[in-house]
Amino acid sequence: MNILNKVFLSGDPEETKKIARQIAEKIEVGDVLLFYGGLGAGKTLMIKSMCEYFGVSEDLVTSPTFNILRMYRGKNGILILHFDFYRMEKTDIDFFEFDDYLNEDAIVFVEWAEKVDKDIFYGKYMEIFIDVDEKGTRKIRIKG
Ligand SMILES: Nc1ncnc2c1ncn2[C@@H]1O[C@H](COP(=O)(O)OP(=O)(O)O)[C@@H](O)[C@H]1O
Ligand SMILES: [Mg+2]
Repeated sequence: MNILNKVFLSGDPEETKKIARQIAEKIEVGDVLLFYGGLGAGKTLMIKSMCEYFGVSEDLVTSPTFNILRMYRGKNGILILHFDFYRMEKTDIDFFEFDDYLNEDAIVFVEWAEKVDKDIFYGKYMEIFIDVDEKGTRKIRIKG
């Protein structure tokens, strides 16, 4: 199954986690996943689930809203970088030394990716758009 350029519908958090796991199966070291969607859309939930797939305890994965970046080590020493740019202002972002943190040997997850110029990330990225309708159903679109 090719999950790229696919649309999933999720009616509850468990379904969203299952979708996240399916995406995680396709991720390789060096991949950058950019998440788009409002507050409470489910970005952190999906990232938690993906991190768990790579052997990081879900409890460790929290929204780095106040930290900008969290790092995790999964199975086989896999490195995961989890960015959240929610509180970042444009000027902060202009001065943020991304190169000090970005690592081609890591998996990178980015919340509020619309705040940054995606060219700062190395090559291969995947975009995940989460839209919530009036019933709370999540429409999850993946763009490769
Ligand atoms: N279908 C769904 N998919 C994802 N989250 C859902 C869904 N329905 C309800 N929720 C709830 O929405 C919240 C999403 O929170 P979170 O992942 O932190 O959002 P974000 O990081 O996008 O701000 C969680 O409390 C989750 O339980
Ligand atoms: Mg979040």
